[in-house]
Amino acid sequence: MALILGIETSCDETAAAVVKDGYEVLSSSVASQIAKHAAHGGVVPELAAREHLTALTPVLDGALREAGVTLAEIDAIAVTQGPGLIPALLVGLSFAKGLAMGNRIPYVGVNHFIGHIYGAFLDEANRALEDGASYPLLALVVSGGHTSLVLIGRDGKATALGGTIDDAAGEALDKGAKLLNLGYPGGPVMQRTAEGGDPHRFEFPRPLTGAAGKPLAPENRYNFSFSGIKTALLYHVKHHADESGRLPEALLRDTVASYQEAVVDVLTRKTLAAAKETGAKTIVVAGGVACNSVLRERFERLTPPGVRLRLAARKYCTDNAAMIGGLGYHYWKKREFSAFDIDSFARLPQ
Ligand code: KG4
Ligand code: ZN
Repeated sequence: MALILGIETSCDETAAAVVKDGYEVLSSSVASQIAKHAAHGGVVPELAAREHLTALTPVLDGALREAGVTLAEIDAIAVTQGPGLIPALLVGLSFAKGLAMGNRIPYVGVNHFIGHIYGAFLDEANRALEDGASYPLLALVVSGGHTSLVLIGRDGKATALGGTIDDAAGEALDKGAKLLNLGYPGGPVMQRTAEGGDPHRFEFPRPLTGAAGKPLAPENRYNFSFSGIKTALLYHVKHHADESGRLPEALLRDTVASYQEAVVDVLTRKTLAAAKETGAKTIVVAGGVACNSVLRERFERLTPPGVRLRLAARKYCTDNAAMIGGLGYHYWKKREFSAFDIDSFARLPQ
């Protein structure tokens, strides 16, 4: 039996969690800074770092209390090393190093991106991960910072198939919402605004899908592009706005529904095509945008029989430390710990 303490500070969520044996989440505390960043329309890295600094101790105390354990009972600490915002990451990493050193607990820096994929396996991780019939596994990680397709073999080896060449899908939703003055973060507010709207009233572009008669270059088969859709929205608003510069309510609803539909359509279409081409036995959808109900329903409806669909539970889609603690268990099992001189990293290693 092993208890791993997870710590996550890669963006605007300060999180700590206690996870038993890689899948049983005893506690998962998340302090969101969203309200602090909302006024700026996006995350301000230095502000995030300062907020992590004050939030970490109470969040850690809360996670330990909720799990009913003390630091002395923790077998290892897993902390997000990257990718993410460097000032934010450095706070969590330094905090974890201090905790580890002061309490003589081994610690390991883990990858936030892999953590998101792991989030889809919490609560029953070991069984599902060890089942050979699950592989190859195709993961779509779709968040404010990533839109990537990764193929994972039975040996655990991950191959990056492709990713966004400009904006991430979550970023497209966030920027779209900002343009429409709907607030931040855009994903949830877009989903709410789209409810009851007609998703087929307006045709927003579906780049790199071979739609619109544009042949798809082979190197872009598994890549995404979401910056054009935001530009299309800008022109759409200019064309349809009233004198105050706003869209009338019904038009706004249809616009947002159509915009969200374009994002969902591209994500599902490309992922399902990649699953077919690679012979994937499992499709995992993880990351903040995987909270989206329209996206979840679309995958549930279109995933072919014979392919397992694992949608990360909503509470493990957006940033959390349970996914970090769960992943950390697998390092603990192999006794793969980090030295005290490791540094944070902003981007996925190429
Ligand atoms: O994984 P996450 O918390 O942070 C990153 O690692 O980026 O993802 C945040 C992103 C934001 O872009 C947010 O707008 C999006 O996830 N998001 C959603 C929903 N909830 C959060 N997008 C669409 N629908 C949602 N319900
Ligand atoms: Zn994330």
